[in-house]
Amino acid sequence: MIRQNELFRVVIIDDDEGFARTLHIFLEDSGADVRLFTDPEAGLQYIHANKFELLLLDLKMPKLDGHALLRAFREKNKETSIIIISATSDVSEAIQAIREGADEFVAKPIRDLEDFDVIVKKTIDKVRLKKELEAYRLHLEELVKERTSELLATNEMLVEEAKRRKKAELAIKKGSVNLMSAIELGKKHIAKELHDSISQRLVFSRMNLELGIKQSNTTNDYFSLALQNIDEISLEIKEMVKMLYPISLEKYSLEENIRSLVESFGKNTGITAQFYCSGEELNVGKDMKLHLFRIFQETLNNVAKHSRAQKVEVTLNFFFDSILGTIRDDGIGLKQFEEIDLSGTGFFSMKERVGEMNGKLTITSPLNSGVMVSFEVPL
Ligand SMILES: Nc1ncnc2c1ncn2[C@@H]1O[C@H](COP(=O)(O)OP(=O)(O)OP(=O)(O)O)[C@@H](O)[C@H]1O
Ligand SMILES: [Mg+2]
Repeated sequence: MIRQNELFRVVIIDDDEGFARTLHIFLEDSGADVRLFTDPEAGLQYIHANKFELLLLDLKMPKLDGHALLRAFREKNKETSIIIISATSDVSEAIQAIREGADEFVAKPIRDLEDFDVIVKKTIDKVRLKKELEAYRLHLEELVKERTSELLATNEMLVEEAKRRKKAELAIKKGSVNLMSAIELGKKHIAKELHDSISQRLVFSRMNLELGIKQSNTTNDYFSLALQNIDEISLEIKEMVKMLYPISLEKYSLEENIRSLVESFGKNTGITAQFYCSGEELNVGKDMKLHLFRIFQETLNNVAKHSRAQKVEVTLNFFFDSILGTIRDDGIGLKQFEEIDLSGTGFFSMKERVGEMNGKLTITSPLNSGVMVSFEVPL
């Protein structure tokens, strides 16, 4: 970039020595660094080998074709300004020179040096402006390059971060699914133990006790109490087995299991429980059946534990490509979110189970109208 006080380099190529010297002195007085060549060939060599800001060129020189020189120089050098100084005042000559790359055309002899001064100054300003613009353009290009590479780097980082998060989410999901399956497996194991071993042994104990009473031909309150205790324990174990793992899931349809769940819920809690089912139960896999059963079971447990409801309605709808379930109670409804006990695992595991089946879970609690849990899972 040329500053105002920077030395301005001018080259004059003109074989008219007297005229050229006048220009030389005039320009040097204006503060320019001037090189004068009256021999066009020496001038030609110089201008191709050196840097300068302004070329004053005579077109009509005996040894050299001014037009050819102008064209060759302009082709290689776009920055330097060129003023043609020619003895001809032919307009077509001037137009040709401008077409060949000259910035200005001045006819010889120059009668008014002040006019010439204005032309030179204008040309100098043009050169400065051009250079400044070029410098700004380069600077802007540089900035754009820098910003682009910064953006690319940030973008890459974001993509990496998104990938990392996705991986972490998948690992967490896999972990929680594994954990859920492990818990289910543990529950199943305990339920089978209780059902197959302890329940059966209680049945035998009861039979033995009855046989003993019969054979000894005596009975008293202790015997009756023992029999009653055994019956109560058997019932409790049955309930525990159902809670731990619904063995009946393996034998009966989902509809039958939910119907029986709702019925025993009504009997055990005194809450009026209604069950409605529609559609045909097809293509419900083992895992899906257990997930759906657990969601109904947990939601009904919540109704029993938290709702203070009078009534609960349960629906199960089988569509050809999805299953829709709802449980609606008329109890006190959900508290403000901040007051909900988030330490519970009920809602959390329901969400996980529905997610595992790629379904959608909605829990709503309109003011004073209990809680409605609904979920839809694709088949
Ligand atoms: N039907 C309902 N009516 C009123 N409040 C409910 C109902 N269902 C759930 N809640 C509220 O939502 C909270 C969260 O339920 P969630 O099932 O996650 O946990 P929990 O039942 O307290 O514990 P857990 O299920 O682990 O035994 C409950 O503590 C209760 O405050
Ligand atoms: Mg719960």
